[in-house]
Order: sequence, then structure tokens, then C-alpha cells
Amino acid sequence: MQKIAILGCTGSIGTQALQVAALHPDRFRVLALTAHSSAEKLFELVRRFRPEYAFYTGGEIALPEDVKSLCKWSFGTKALIEAARLPEVDTVLDAVMGMAGLEAVLAAGKAGKKVLLANKEALVAGGALVMELFGPVGNHRLLPVDSEHSAIWQCLEGAHGCQPKELILTASGGPFRTWTLERIRKATIGEALGHPTWSMGRKITVDSATMFNKALEIIEARWLFDVPHEKIRVHIHPQSIVHSAVRFEDGTVIAQMGIPDMRLPILYAMSWPDRLPTGTEDLDLFKIGTLTFEKPDDARFPAMDMARSCLDAGGTACAVLNAANEEAVGAFLQGKILLGEIYDTVSFVLDRLPTLAVREAGDIFEADRRAREMARERIGGLK
Ligand SMILES: NC(=O)c1ccc[n+]([C@@H]2O[C@H](COP(=O)([O-])OP(=O)(O)OC[C@H]3O[C@@H](n4cnc5c(N)ncnc54)[C@H](OP(=O)(O)O)[C@@H]3O)[C@@H](O)[C@H]2O)c1
Repeated sequence: MQKIAILGCTGSIGTQALQVAALHPDRFRVLALTAHSSAEKLFELVRRFRPEYAFYTGGEIALPEDVKSLCKWSFGTKALIEAARLPEVDTVLDAVMGMAGLEAVLAAGKAGKKVLLANKEALVAGGALVMELFGPVGNHRLLPVDSEHSAIWQCLEGAHGCQPKELILTASGGPFRTWTLERIRKATIGEALGHPTWSMGRKITVDSATMFNKALEIIEARWLFDVPHEKIRVHIHPQSIVHSAVRFEDGTVIAQMGIPDMRLPILYAMSWPDRLPTGTEDLDLFKIGTLTFEKPDDARFPAMDMARSCLDAGGTACAVLNAANEEAVGAFLQGKILLGEIYDTVSFVLDRLPTLAVREAGDIFEADRRAREMARERIGGLK
């Protein structure tokens, strides 16, 4: 019986993790839940899953009488760290959105927990520190949940230690795959949120439209699999059936396939090394019929090149890219800037903030703070 804390239980990944946990009550006991702003949803989940602990990280709130006594409650930003290192918990699913999840991953790692990582921004900003703490993915202390990285991990698991020649990171191409640059730059919020194959939280859906999601995933793959970015190649694959692949020295490519449904990689991380029923439909290759692959267009989607430059620069550069992007996506979703200005804001901040060495976590948090401040100033100046 795995005792799990789900950080970000009210989000897209968090709720799907609860769905698959509920399918296997003999394997998983949900011991702790955290939420940040969706209080009503958290109350509902507490009533249904009866965790021993509930954490509301958005601040102090009044609790309805019926949930007050169902479990122990904590409030405020520090509650996330508390949840990540609860002595009774052995597995922490970090499904928080954004950089807020980094401190929790580090706290869980220091407390000796197994971490199932959906929160890619934590790895993008603090990859070197996180990997130093957990060791290689093969240690099975840090297991990827992101579908592409889960796929690569699964391909490598069967490789008996053979090193990859190249990682093939697939991408659906998002809703603007065939759009002109001019049209992409002026896309509306509704258009950006209309992902063709995946149903996800708002921030990652916008990231998928701009391809910043793939940029973050290149960085994530670099750290998780200790592969230089020159050996990570993005393939646009609109059907989202091949979740990613690995090329080996003999030319063989091993790919992992499945329907585009996050319950598969979530449950695989939770149940590894076992494979349990996910409650989803099986992949029907006859129904899919055709799988296609295209080269990405870096002129229309410059985010992936930005990520590669940041990896070359090292130090705080990836944390700066991540923070500027988070701020810009937030501004776009509030209708403050156009989609094209997400790229402009990230470039503006990257061009101006010097890249500094990372000696400790505080260096990353400081770079993150400065990048957000600069991004907000620039966005404010655009009005
Ligand atoms: N969704 C997917 O299919 C998918 C696929 C691969 C990777 N991921 C990654 O998984 C992570 C979560 O994505 P998502 O789509 O599930 O996001 P989401 O639907 O927006 O959910 C985010 C969760 O994080 C909580 N949260 C937000 N800000 C927080 C903060 N400052 N401190 C603590 N908790 C906070 C939210 O709480 P409230 O709702 O209470 O505010 C919510 O529970 C992201 O890093 C994303 O890139 C997602």
C-alpha cells in the first residue's frame, strides 16, 4: 500500500491521479491533499477521499463544519512544504502548476520521499539541484509523469543500460501548427486554449500553443536523462499517439504508444514497475490508421531555440526563461497582452538579465524573482 500526498489535487493532473488511485484502493492510500485557490473543490475531495491531512496553500480560509473534523488542516504557502515531507507519506505526486512546486520537490527529496513529477517548471528552473538530490531516473526516486518523459523512461527501461543515441520528443504541434506567424501572434485566449488532442490545465495549454511547452520539455529531458540538448530532437506528431521515442546506436528506434490520456503516465509512475488498468479505452491502431511526423518550424515557434540557448548558457538562464514565460502566460490569460508578446517578453528578459552561477536553491529563487519583476514591468509598459 503506497501512502501518497497529492500536491495540486484540484488541477488537471491532480484530479486524474485521484481517479486512478480510486480504481486501486488496495494499492494506494491518499494521505494528503493540497490546493491553492479552489477551496470548494478541495472540500469536495476531502469529503470523498478522506485524507488524513489537507493543505490550502492560498492562505487562511473558513472551513465548512462538516470538513473541519475530517482531517488535519494547514494553511499558507509553507503548507506545501509541510505536505511534501509528512512522515507518514512515502510518495509525493507534485502536480502543482509552475515554479511554486520546486521548493516542494526539494523538500520531499531531502525527506527521502519518492517523487512523481508532473511539475516540469521545477525541473526547468532547478534541474541541476533536483537531479543532484535524487540521482538518475534509474534510481527510481524521481519518476516522470509528463507523457513524453514517461515514454522515454519506458523506452530506456527496456534498453538494459544501452545508452541512447538520440531522444525523440514528440509534440502535437498544438492548435497553431498550420497557422502563419502573423496569425499566431494575434491568436485569442479561446483559440490558444483549444488544444487538438490533450485536455490540460490553462497554463500548459497556452504553453502547448506557443510551443514553450516543448521548450520546457527539452530542458526537462536534458536533466532527467542526462542527455545534451543536441541529442534531443523534436518531431511534430499531430495524432499524439507516439508519446516519444529513443534512437539507439544500431539505428533502432523504440517508441512508446498510447491514447493521449494523462491517466496512463500518471498511473504508470504511481504503480511502477507494475502496469494496472487505467479505466481508459485501449489504443486502436486500425482506428488511428495513419501516424505522421513533421519537422518543427523554429521561425514560427522560436521557444525551442530559446530553450537550447538557455541550456548552453547554464546557471540561472533556464529559471529566467521559465519565470518570464509564467508571467507572460498569466498576462495573456488575463487579456493584458497578445500571444506574440509572450515570446517578446521572454526574449526581452533573457536579453537583459545576466546569467549567474547556481550554487544553491536561493540563487534560483532570486533569478526567478528578478525575471518576474522585469517581465511584469515590461508587460505594464505595453499597456
Ligand atoms: N495537465 C496535463 O495534462 C499535464 C501534462 C504534463 C505535465 N503537466 C504539468 O503538471 C503541472 C500541473 O498541470 P495541470 O495542467 O494539472 O495544472 P492545473 O490544472 O492548472 O492545476 C494546477 C494545480 O496546482 C495548484 N497550484 C497553482 N498555483 C499554485 C501555487 N502557487 N502553490 C501551490 N499550488 C498551486 C492548483 O490549485 P488550485 O486549483 O486550488 O488553484 C492546482 O491544484 C504543470 O507543471 C504542467 O506543466 C500537466
